[in-house]
This record gives sequence, C-alpha cells and structure tokens, in this order.
Amino acid sequence: MRTPIYIVLLVLAGHAFGAPSLEQMLGFLKQFGRDISYPANIEAAKSINYTGFSEGRHIVGRVDVTGTFIGRELNTEYIFGLFSGLATGASTSTPLVGIPLNQTIIDLVIENNLMIVTTRRDFNFTVAVVPTVWQVKFLFNDEGIVTQYDAIVYRASALFANIWPRLRKHLIKELGLPHHTSQTMAIKIRAARDICSQHEEYCLGPNKQFESKEACMRFVLHKIPLGEIWQAGQNTTLCRYIHTPMLPLRPAVHCPHVGPTGGDMCFDHSYETLLENPFPEPFAALPNNLTLAGLAGQL
Ligand SMILES: *[C@@H]1O[C@H](CO)[C@@H](O)[C@H](O)[C@H]1NC(C)=O
Ligand SMILES: *[C@@H]1O[C@H](CO)[C@@H](O)[C@H](O)[C@H]1NC(C)=O
Ligand SMILES: *[C@@H]1O[C@H](CO)[C@@H](O)[C@H](O)[C@H]1NC(C)=O
Ligand SMILES: *[C@@H]1O[C@H](CO)[C@@H](O)[C@H](O)[C@H]1NC(C)=O
Ligand SMILES: *[C@@H]1O[C@H](CO)[C@@H](O)[C@H](O)[C@H]1NC(C)=O
Repeated sequence: MRTPIYIVLLVLAGHAFGAPSLEQMLGFLKQFGRDISYPANIEAAKSINYTGFSEGRHIVGRVDVTGTFIGRELNTEYIFGLFSGLATGASTSTPLVGIPLNQTIIDLVIENNLMIVTTRRDFNFTVAVVPTVWQVKFLFNDEGIVTQYDAIVYRASALFANIWPRLRKHLIKELGLPHHTSQTMAIKIRAARDICSQHEEYCLGPNKQFESKEACMRFVLHKIPLGEIWQAGQNTTLCRYIHTPMLPLRPAVHCPHVGPTGGDMCFDHSYETLLENPFPEPFAALPNNLTLAGLAGQL
C-alpha cells in the first residue's frame, strides 16, 4: 500500500515548515479544489469575500486567458461567480466556456509559502465532458491565506478548437438558427442574447451601457469580433460574455465591462501589456533564505 503523499510530506517537512504550516496549505488546496467545482461554487460565490483569499485588495490573481484581478471580491466573482452564474444564473443557457467539475491532482510542489499545483479538471460543455489541465502557483501569507495566484490553462486554444465545433450543432438547435449558420455566428448569437438580456435586466440608470437591447445586439454581434480564447480579456464578444454572469452581483462594477468601453477589463491590451507582471512579490522559494534579488548577480 502506498502512503498518502501528504503524510510523506508532513514527515519530511518536520520543523522546516514555519508559517504558513503545511497543514494550512494542504487544507486550502483541498477546500479550494472542492469549492471551485459545480455545484459547490454556488455557495463559494455567495460568500462574496472568499475566506481562502487575503482580505480587501491584498490578493492579486491572474488567469492567463482572461486577465488580472485585484481584491477579494473581484477574485471571488471571477473564480466562483462566473461559473456558478453560467450554471444557475438569471438566464441559464448552454455555457460557452463549460462548467468545472471534479479534479485530480497531477503534480504538487510545496516549499516555504509557495505551492505549485497541476490538476486535470473535467469541464462540462453540455455536448461533452472534457478534461482541462491547469497549473496554478499560490503564494500564502503567514496565516496560510492566499495573497497571490497565477493560473494557466494548458493548450487552451486546442481545448476550444476541439469543443466549439461540437457546440455549433447544439446551439443551432437551441437557438432555432438556419442549419448552415457558421460556428462563429452560432456562438456569437448565444453570447449576444445572454449578454444583452442580462444587460437589459441588471444595468439600469447610470449603469446602462446601451440605448436599447437592439443597440446591444448590434454592437455585440456586428461591431466586435467573437475573439479567440486568448482574447477573453480583449475588446471581444467573448470577454463581454465572461463578464455577464457578474452583472447581478455588482452592476456598478461590472456593467461597463459588457459595454462599448469595456470598462477596465474588455479592451485591447497590447502584447507587451499582456506580459506585464502584476504581482507585488515573486513566486519564489529558494533554499537557505536566498532571494531572487540576492541571486541576481549569479544568474
Ligand atoms: C467584502 O469585502 C469588502 C472590503 O474589501 C467590503 O466592502 C464588503 O462589504 C464585503 N462584502 C461582504 C458581503 O462581506
Ligand atoms: C471525475 O469523476 C469521474 C467519475 O468518477 C471520473 O471518471 C473522472 O476520471 C474524474 N475526472 C477527473 C479529471 O478527475
Ligand atoms: C452536463 O451538463 C448537462 C446540461 O446541463 C447535464 O444534463 C449533465 O448532467 C451534466 N453532466 C455532468 C457529468 O455533470
Ligand atoms: C471596441 O471596438 C468597437 C468597434 O470598433 C469600438 O466601437 C469600441 O469603442 C471598442 N472598445 C474598446 C474598449 O476599444
Ligand atoms: C533564515 O531566516 C530565518 C529568519 O530570519 C532564520 O531564523 C534562519 O536561521 C535562516 N536560515 C538560514 C539557513 O539562513
């Protein structure tokens, strides 16, 4: 019988682990893994301020395909609210980016206050349940609370090239479209209807971004591209779609994201800007109290 990995780690770690403790970091990993899965993400989203993330603005998260999120509320919304909203939100329809289900941990590195985890997580795209592979770096404070995370979904372009053609047929039926409708158009129409109906419902008064539902449909369908998955944080329909589940939560914050201005989210970031490092601290864990800065001369 194999000894569970965390017991080996606990024994090996001994007193070398100060604050945060290994137990705290593994506890977070287990809870987070559950909370992100549907339907547990519904409760996590309702918490508004996820307690595994550091308070106020002391949490910076980045998801390579979408963007950088600063603050506990925003990170709770994008990690939990987005998918719970797509699954159970005001206008439930076939989700274009899938719904996260169960995961298996593939690789795990824990050193000092740094954890790097690779997981294989199934996503439900309605027409198929498909695996996705994620690598996330987490940095913890002394209390075992996450202050930074950096998430990458492997081969995201291949994932969507695989799944969107399969969604096309399903959407043509769901939306009652002519059978020759292109994949891009079918997906765009699904997105546009969801964006514009929710904009109509939740973006009222000063939060209103479009004159009318028709103006919204015109813009989202015809003025901007659908976008590839890497453009989920650019001036695209896909970006506005991803921000739509958050409209009921905080309209004043999120309505601009779906409008023509894109707020501080859906606008064309240059390639150079996409590469900028948003993190206050490096994700580093070196032996003998070495720091990256201290090593600079030797590298
Ligand atoms: C979440 O935290 C923010 C402060 O960062 C606070 O303004 C807000 O009221 C909190 N929301 C809830 C529901 O606790
Ligand atoms: C999720 O659970 C199903 C059913 O138990 C299993 O077949 C599948 O391999 C699991 N997927 C992952 C990524 O762990
Ligand atoms: C995937 O989603 C579809 C549509 O909501 C649902 O009918 C199906 O049961 C889900 N499958 C899994 C494994 O959750
Ligand atoms: C997005 O593109 C549309 C069409 O060119 C334009 O009207 C709109 O102002 C753009 N928004 C941003 C944030 O660049
Ligand atoms: C690392 O720093 C801590 C705290 O300053 C100190 O107690 C410890 O002895 C240092 N360890 C090494 C290997 O230098």
